[in-house]
Amino acid sequence: MVKISVTNLAGQTSDIDGEVGLSLMENLRNNDFDDLAAVCGGCCSCCTCHVYVDEDSYSKLPELEDDEQYLLEDSEHFQAGSSRLSCQLEVDDSMDGIKVTIAPEA
Ligand code: FES
Repeated sequence: MVKISVTNLAGQTSDIDGEVGLSLMENLRNNDFDDLAAVCGGCCSCCTCHVYVDEDSYSKLPELEDDEQYLLEDSEHFQAGSSRLSCQLEVDDSMDGIKVTIAPEA
């Protein structure tokens, strides 16, 4: 299990035990973070799984693929160096202690 700190749209923070091998989006949905609509189900076509990642963790994540980057940069809530699509991040042990904040929907 991987410890993930999650702040919802109301600003409330809680920790979850992330399941390795699932996406970050799936972990958030499985833990009832309904603020995260994830409308496309992880197909990288909706941007409703947008999260902000803390600076330390962001630098350790895999690079953005082009399609993820295009979607994020189209969002009015995009923040360089922090924004990611949670469906495009597979949880692994290197993400232990990551802090994510659910971004407002565009
Ligand atoms: S769930 Fe649609 S882009 Fe992530």
